[in-house]
Amino acid sequence: MRQIIAGNWKMNGTLADVGPYGSALKASIPACLVVICPPFPLLPAFAAQLTGTGIALGAQDCHTGRAGAHTGDVSSLLIKEIGAQYVILGHSERRTDHFESNAIVRAKVEAALQAALVPIVCVGETDTERDAGEAEDVVRTQLIHSLPPEFTGLVAYEPIWAIGTGRTPTEADIIAMHGAIRHQLTSQFPQTGAKIPILYGGSVKPANAAAILALPEVGGALVGGASLKATEFLAIAACAASV
Ligand code: PGA
Repeated sequence: MRQIIAGNWKMNGTLADVGPYGSALKASIPACLVVICPPFPLLPAFAAQLTGTGIALGAQDCHTGRAGAHTGDVSSLLIKEIGAQYVILGHSERRTDHFESNAIVRAKVEAALQAALVPIVCVGETDTERDAGEAEDVVRTQLIHSLPPEFTGLVAYEPIWAIGTGRTPTEADIIAMHGAIRHQLTSQFPQTGAKIPILYGGSVKPANAAAILALPEVGGALVGGASLKATEFLAIAACAASV
């Protein structure tokens, strides 16, 4: 299975970074599927850089609607028009900073699908929830309520306590959670659930990428901090399966 390595730049990067970063990617195009998700204003510059390279582009959010009076928001249709193919939805930072509920995430997924974007839907528990033994229940509930019946796309398991902290779950914990997610997806989507890629995210680095990407039901990685430097991101992508 060809794994997917997605880079989430979050609110980082400037226009001046796009050229050097794009050139570095183009100089050693990874064999796995790579998706770069920069801030909205950098999408057009990246689109121009990456056309024809096979490297895909994604946004970090979209609005639930097609257009209208929504100051500061961006529609899925415009993201598609600008040249992106993917959109990250329901990232824990959006769920926390912007109070996005599962219902809002689901409406955004529907908007993304209507624009023919591939949603990357994030789920994950807090450390308190994990310590209470509730991690799998929390994630299952997020899947049930964040994914519409017509869902196609990717799921990213991102334990909140592992994001940007340098801490990662044990391999056994990743295996258990990805197995639980697969089980939920196959029962929620009997026709397609077995094939939905499940990415792992949270402190993925060149040093741990190979071990994480080798685990069962890990279909790729969603990389934050380590995606900002092309050399680190390419080193992670080099660990991914390409067939
Ligand atoms: P991190 O972020 O790789 O910096 O931990 C991952 C994410 O939030 O997608």
